[in-house]
Amino acid sequence: MPRVFSGIQPTGDPHIGNYFGAMKNYVKLGDQLGKNSIYCVVDLHAPTNPSAYDPKFLAQRTFEMAVANMAAGLDPEKVIFFVQSHVPEHTQLAWLFTVITPVGELERMTQYKDKAGKLESTPAGLLMYPVLQAADILLYKADTVPVGEDQVQHIELTREIARKFNHAFGDMFPEPKAVLEKDALRIPGLDGSGKMSKSKGEATTIGILEPLDSIWQKLRVAPTDPARVRRTDPGDPDKCLIGDYHKLFSDLPTLETVYTGCRTAGIGCVDCKKLLLGSMTQELAPIQERAAALRADPDFVRDALVQGAKEARAIAQPVFEEAREKVGF
Ligand code: ADP
Ligand code: NA
Repeated sequence: MPRVFSGIQPTGDPHIGNYFGAMKNYVKLGDQLGKNSIYCVVDLHAPTNPSAYDPKFLAQRTFEMAVANMAAGLDPEKVIFFVQSHVPEHTQLAWLFTVITPVGELERMTQYKDKAGKLESTPAGLLMYPVLQAADILLYKADTVPVGEDQVQHIELTREIARKFNHAFGDMFPEPKAVLEKDALRIPGLDGSGKMSKSKGEATTIGILEPLDSIWQKLRVAPTDPARVRRTDPGDPDKCLIGDYHKLFSDLPTLETVYTGCRTAGIGCVDCKKLLLGSMTQELAPIQERAAALRADPDFVRDALVQGAKEARAIAQPVFEEAREKVGF
């Protein structure tokens, strides 16, 4: 049976790109693999990006990210779900990996170059980030890592670290593979360009826990097919941001109404956006209700994470012991 690991950064509210690109896939894999699917809120990674990190909010953001995933269907009884800093073997294994990872490889990482380029002084942690990520994955001997396109290079480095370790100290780690969610590689942002991303600002994202009236205010002013100037002009839902979102959220009868209505000018863009809000409400309202219930019972969430850390450690400790003996400690 494959073993899946994925890390979730505790940065702000997850958006519908995170939801369709990652979170839904975690739930699906969890249904198939149970305790062989391991998900971790990777709080130790947060401070490596000083521009997006504030110690005052870290604990709360970690909690919120746990709530969001549980509300979206991740069942801590079914999968292993925990917080990275609760399992000290992550940093311990990362240290063993630092001694076999060439600095030159780390300096070549695209994400490192992007982030470091924006900073006056670069913390060593930002450079080491992919080493800790390799430890996150290999500590569970995971072979399957569901991630977005932007993480593929890091997973390749993880494979190289596994290879180098096995060669230097003796065979013990698998070489994990990245798996991409092909139908949701790149969900566009509300500005209509590129990929929805937290880093482009809240005005361009739709949060899965965002109040529906706030979502409506954003949809109302979102761009549509530019060829559709007047209400009577026909449009093309395949060239429209709202059409893209319909494909994610709407059922077949609604899609039929949207496609026919738009192409024949039978419905206007505002009607089409209202239909989208309806579909979004169907998907997101239950998630938001579950999130409210989880926030109202923070001990339930914390206990689930403590239990998850116990389950994670039961796997992590013997793997770390094996690694440390191999290195000679
Ligand atoms: P962001 O780009 O907003 O900072 P993260 O880097 O924290 O998001 O991504 C968390 C997960 O969500 C990753 O697996 C990433 O590939 C996925 N993801 C992020 N944005 C999108 C998007 N617009 N479309 C599809 N998947 C996305
Ligand atoms: Na990203």
